[in-house]
Amino acid sequence: MKAAVIGLQWGDEGKGKVVTYLSRRYDCVVRYSGGSNAGHTVDYGNFKMVHHLLPSADIKKQKMMYIGPGVVVDLDVLLEEIDQINNLIPESRSLLRISKQAHVVIPIYRDLDEKIDSSRANQIGTTRRGIGISYANRAMRCGLRLEDFETPARAESFLNEISRTWSIKFDVKMILDNLIEKYNKIRDLLIDSSEAVRVLKEKDLLFEGTQGVLLDVDMGTYPYVTSTNCSTTGIQPGFGYPVQVDKIFGVMKAYTTRVGEGPFPTELKDEVGENLRRLGSEYGATTRRPRRCGWLDLVLIKYAIETSACNALIMTKADILSGFEKIPICMGYKIGGKFYTQINNTAHLTEIEPVYEEIKGWKSLHSKEFDDFIYKIERELGLKFAYISTGPKIEEITEL
Ligand code: GDP
Ligand code: IMO
Ligand code: MG
Repeated sequence: MKAAVIGLQWGDEGKGKVVTYLSRRYDCVVRYSGGSNAGHTVDYGNFKMVHHLLPSADIKKQKMMYIGPGVVVDLDVLLEEIDQINNLIPESRSLLRISKQAHVVIPIYRDLDEKIDSSRANQIGTTRRGIGISYANRAMRCGLRLEDFETPARAESFLNEISRTWSIKFDVKMILDNLIEKYNKIRDLLIDSSEAVRVLKEKDLLFEGTQGVLLDVDMGTYPYVTSTNCSTTGIQPGFGYPVQVDKIFGVMKAYTTRVGEGPFPTELKDEVGENLRRLGSEYGATTRRPRRCGWLDLVLIKYAIETSACNALIMTKADILSGFEKIPICMGYKIGGKFYTQINNTAHLTEIEPVYEEIKGWKSLHSKEFDDFIYKIERELGLKFAYISTGPKIEEITEL
């Protein structure tokens, strides 16, 4: 059995919590995309973890974790997270395997990321984690992979290549020594991608998506996106093997948030938006930036479902809307005087006018009004909810 959990909006839908809960039914959780730009919060009740790089497997249940070749690995962040899980649950480090073919985010990438984004005419507002630079270097074939540290001369030649490609000078020897020191601390966890495939292909795998479909480099709101296929399409290259994924869980928040720049049709720039941010604690798990907040946009969710082949829905954070008298839902867009309930691409989101339908709010998640909200969304999207998350803690979720 293979399944995936992906975000249907602009990230931060609550994927981490959902993955931790679902991980109990699988042998291994696999990260296939992104890097430490991701921030997946898991609230165990007596402690919280924010997973930037480690798959959000339930560490109390001793599940395997695999970081595939499609992930870009920042060794500082990785070492910190490994220490964290190992302190919480001794020996849990031994459940992790990392592909040797994964690329490495070297510290200068973070500075380059910041420099390049700041100098753009239209800033993306990246997480400054060096993600775009890592994937660019991979595409330009000058990036280092974890396996390169096995042969320091090879790693050194890549560092020299990076220096030439970007026309920047840095102390290659010092950076190399520093990286090798960190690499040695995780060396025993590294595995060739082909070996990982042999070990894992018959196992029950849960693929943990990062970001969301609207941040996918191809299907998202380009150029305001991340640099990978964080949607379902990234699973095969990011795992390194053509797997058949039967269940694709799409996670959607009951409202919408976005961090960084880019179009956001249902954004609320008033006190209602501030209220949502405060009630939902909508601050970036990676950068602590305030998240932009707005109403649920079913046009964009439909687009995300269609392009990701999502076949089961999971709703999160509806509890945050409890108590609102009326809840507007964006049902369609007005484009050039015409009404549309579907879009074919995201290129013209700044030229549209969202059209809302107001529904009656609910006081409790055990009410007719809340059930009506769920049925309405299911009807509009033509897909059923498999789970409804009702709070941040792992167990606060209901299977339907
Ligand atoms: P991710 O990046 O998709 O994993 O999401 P984040 O962790 O960045 O942001 C989701 C936030 O909402 C985290 O603080 C979670 O603990 C929290 N959360 C997840 N599901 C729920 C829910 O159903 N209700 C509430 N109130 N909080 C939730
Ligand atoms: P999770 O996995 C929300 C956004 C950044 C920026 C754009 C590009 O926690 O949902 P990058 O650093 O990737 O080059 O930034 O993407 N972004 C996220 N927004 N959640 C995330 O991850 C994000 N990862 C990147 O804010 O707009
Ligand atoms: Mg997040």
